[in-house]
Amino acid sequence: MSTSPNTMAVYAKRRAAIGRALKAAGGGIALLPTAPEVPRNRDSDFPYRHDSYFYYLTGFSEPGGWLVIEASGKTVKSTLFCRPKDLEREIWDGIRLGPKAAPAQLGVDEAFSVDALNQKMPELLANQNAVWFPFATHPGLGSQVDGWLDQVRARVRQGAECPTSQHDLCKLLDEMRLFKDSQEVSILRRAGKISAAAHVRAMQASAAMLRAGVKGGLREYHLDAELLHEFRRQGSEFPAYTSIVAAGANACVLHYRAGDTELKAGQLCLIDAGCELQGYASDITRTFPADGTFSPAQRRLYDIVHAAQEAAIAVTRPGKRFNDPHEAATRVLIEGMLETGLLPKAKHGKVDDVLASGAYRQFYMHRTGHWMGMDVHDCGDYSEPGSKAREEKDATGQSVMRKPSRILRPGMVTTIEPGIYVRPAKNVPKEFWNIGIRIEDDALITAKGCELLTREVPVAADEIEALMRG
Ligand code: GLY
Ligand code: MN
Ligand code: MN
Repeated sequence: MSTSPNTMAVYAKRRAAIGRALKAAGGGIALLPTAPEVPRNRDSDFPYRHDSYFYYLTGFSEPGGWLVIEASGKTVKSTLFCRPKDLEREIWDGIRLGPKAAPAQLGVDEAFSVDALNQKMPELLANQNAVWFPFATHPGLGSQVDGWLDQVRARVRQGAECPTSQHDLCKLLDEMRLFKDSQEVSILRRAGKISAAAHVRAMQASAAMLRAGVKGGLREYHLDAELLHEFRRQGSEFPAYTSIVAAGANACVLHYRAGDTELKAGQLCLIDAGCELQGYASDITRTFPADGTFSPAQRRLYDIVHAAQEAAIAVTRPGKRFNDPHEAATRVLIEGMLETGLLPKAKHGKVDDVLASGAYRQFYMHRTGHWMGMDVHDCGDYSEPGSKAREEKDATGQSVMRKPSRILRPGMVTTIEPGIYVRPAKNVPKEFWNIGIRIEDDALITAKGCELLTREVPVAADEIEALMRG
């Protein structure tokens, strides 16, 4: 792993921002471990993925790392704990950075072997006002910190004072990560391009394989392989989440995975897949006819979802709230449901009646977006900080306390992903049964509106058909 001086400065700047926040809160120390290695089965681990918070502050992707930031008095000091050099282990698992090289490579002030963690941590915690660490994302960390704090208390006769308060470090980091800096935006743009190319490749492969007639039939896993090929070919490390490749009715299962169902001419295929690049996600959904031509019923629903996405995009801009795209998309979807008879007008009335009754949830049961960044469902508060909670009714009529949703600001990244999913049911026109459609793009909020990061794969039905004919 190499970190250029430019990149190193980005992480140093983020650590300095945490140091300033700690000082502003009265001074203290922050602790942050990376993610553990996770065994898959005997002698085999899941592919290693660093913890996003840890990587955000270090750019270091080896397992076994801990970052400590001390911010008291005038200084801010960063200390890294990492795996020691070990020739035997490096022969099997690869080169380790090691504590000696870490300060020059990562820009931290000091580094130690992680083997010294339990000995050093009580020393570092002693005489700090407060300790900050992630409360909810690292199981067992709270007890580990308590154990170190007990050791500090045991040294009171040697003059050691124990921190008197504990705070959730994620509260600071979530807010920072919500606003992407220019380095992050350039990686997100590139991740979006790679994922778009993968979707193009899968669409083209689908039509070509059906035209050519594959032995054993075209299967969902064939298209999954096309996605993976393009991700890896362009340098992505892994998919950002498990790809969904859903043939026909499988698209109505929201968390379906790519399986072995055959894709037939005349069916739709829904692909929800995005690559991870240098620690950043992308998240695209396209729904296309397996053979390249929409049936009239498919096209009708497709155009409704597309119009809903366009309505959502139009209100994805600074000053609007996070919920506004969802509300805009939902209105267009409801209009379409009433027009097509998915929701008969005689029974369900007008758009506002359907919004109030919630009947649309039979066909549209998820939200229209989520923050995206290092994690595909990224961190960040969905309600406006500092606002007051009000009593509202939830979908089931129960009282809940809700804060007004977040005001969109430049640098935030959200997905925009409306859909319609029609399971067979009495009173639902049969022509629409088993059609599941979602369209999803990633949007960076800019000064005046939004930049769609994933539009190098077509979205309009005519453009998808043209691409697949080609
Ligand atoms: N791919 C996960 C999502 O769209 O939220
Ligand atoms: Mn998504
Ligand atoms: Mn998705």
